[in-house]
Amino acid sequence: MTAATTFPLAFSATPSQSARAEAEREAILADPGFGKHFTDHMVQVTWTLDEGWHDAEVVPYGPITLDPAASVLHYGQEIFEGLKVYRHADGSIWSFRPEANALRLQRSAERMALPSLPTEDFLESLRQLLAFDKAWVPSAPETSLYIRPFMIASESFLGVRAAQKVDYRVIASPAGAYFHGGVRPVSIWLSTDYSRAGRGGTGAAKTGGNYAASLLPQAEAYRNGCDQVLFLDSVEQKYLEELGGMNIFLVRHDGTLITPALSGSILEGITRESIIRLAKDRGHAVEERPVTLDEWREGVASGEISESFACGTAAVITPIGALKGPDFAIGDVSAPAGALTMSLREELTDIQYGRKPDRHGWLTRLG
Ligand code: PLP
Ligand code: COI
Repeated sequence: MTAATTFPLAFSATPSQSARAEAEREAILADPGFGKHFTDHMVQVTWTLDEGWHDAEVVPYGPITLDPAASVLHYGQEIFEGLKVYRHADGSIWSFRPEANALRLQRSAERMALPSLPTEDFLESLRQLLAFDKAWVPSAPETSLYIRPFMIASESFLGVRAAQKVDYRVIASPAGAYFHGGVRPVSIWLSTDYSRAGRGGTGAAKTGGNYAASLLPQAEAYRNGCDQVLFLDSVEQKYLEELGGMNIFLVRHDGTLITPALSGSILEGITRESIIRLAKDRGHAVEERPVTLDEWREGVASGEISESFACGTAAVITPIGALKGPDFAIGDVSAPAGALTMSLREELTDIQYGRKPDRHGWLTRLG
C-alpha cells in the first residue's frame, strides 16, 4: 500500500501479537542495562525520490528485510539520533529537547545526502511509538527509555550515488546507566594513533561511520583499562575534540567551564548546549574555544583545572577521573567526583525527571 505523501504524515498501525507480558517487561525494566532490550513496536516510514515520505506505520518490533545490494550495506549511507524519554513522579512521560534532535537529524541528513524529515514528522514518530510502548518507560531513579531514530539507504544499487529509496525507523530500548557500575568517575584513553573525524569530513554528523572509526581506538582504551577514548584534532593532534560518544568539559578552579568549540568535526551535543545554558544561568563563565591537551595536563598538575566531565544523552554527565596515554597518566578514578560536575548533573536530571521547573521549556510531553 502506498499512502500519498501528506504533511504531516498520517500513521497507520499494526499492533504486535507477541507483545511481552507485564511480568516479563517488569523484569527487564528492573535491570535494563543499556541498549540490550527493545520494546514491542517500531516506527517505519519510507522515502523515495518520486513520492517523498510515505507509508508511515507503527509495526511490531522485528528484523528488517534488506536486499543484499542495499547501498547502506556497502557505502554506509545512514544517520541516527539518540534521545531519552523520562517518567515523572505522576506517571506522565516526557522527552528532552526532541526538536533539537529533529534539527540535528536534518543536518546529518544534509551532510550524508539523505532526505530531510520535517520536525513535525519526527515528533509525530515519537508520539506514535510511545502511544504503543509507553509501559516500557521505566520509573526507577536514573532510568529512562532510550529512543533511537535512524535512517538508512535501502535502494538496491551498487553505483556510488545518493540512494533514491530510504527507510526511516524508530526503535526504543529501556536504559539504565551507560557505564558499568553506575555514576562513577571514568577513565579516558587518549588516542594518539587514530582520529575520529577530519576537516571537511563527517564528524559533525551523527552517522555510523564515525562510530565504526572509533571502535578500534575504543578497544585500545579497554585494553589499557579505560572506559572511553578521547580524540584530538586530526590536523595538529593538539586540540581536544570529543570522546567516542560524548562531548567533554574542563572546569577551572574559579568555576569557569571550558569546552572545545564546535570545529566542524565535533558532534553538536544537545547535552553540551544545555549544560552551557545552565552554567551561564548560574553566573559561570563558559569558554567555547580550542583547548589543547597540554592545557589540560598542565592545568591538572598546577591545580588550575579542578574537574572534568563527559556529557551526552546516554552518559548524561559523567565525571572523568583519569586521563591516560601511551606515556602518561593524570588524575585518579578513585578520587571523588567534582562538586560542580555533580551539581550540574543533578540540576539537569532534576529538570529531565520533572523534579525542578522546566524554565527553558525543554520538555515535551509524550504521554
Ligand atoms: N558526541 C558524540 C560522538 C555522540 O555520539 C554524542 C551522543 O549523542 C554526543 C557527543 C552527545 O550528544 P547529545 O548530548 O546530543 O546526546
Ligand atoms: C547518545 O548519547 O545518544 C549516543 O549516541 C552515544 C552512544 C555511544 C550510545
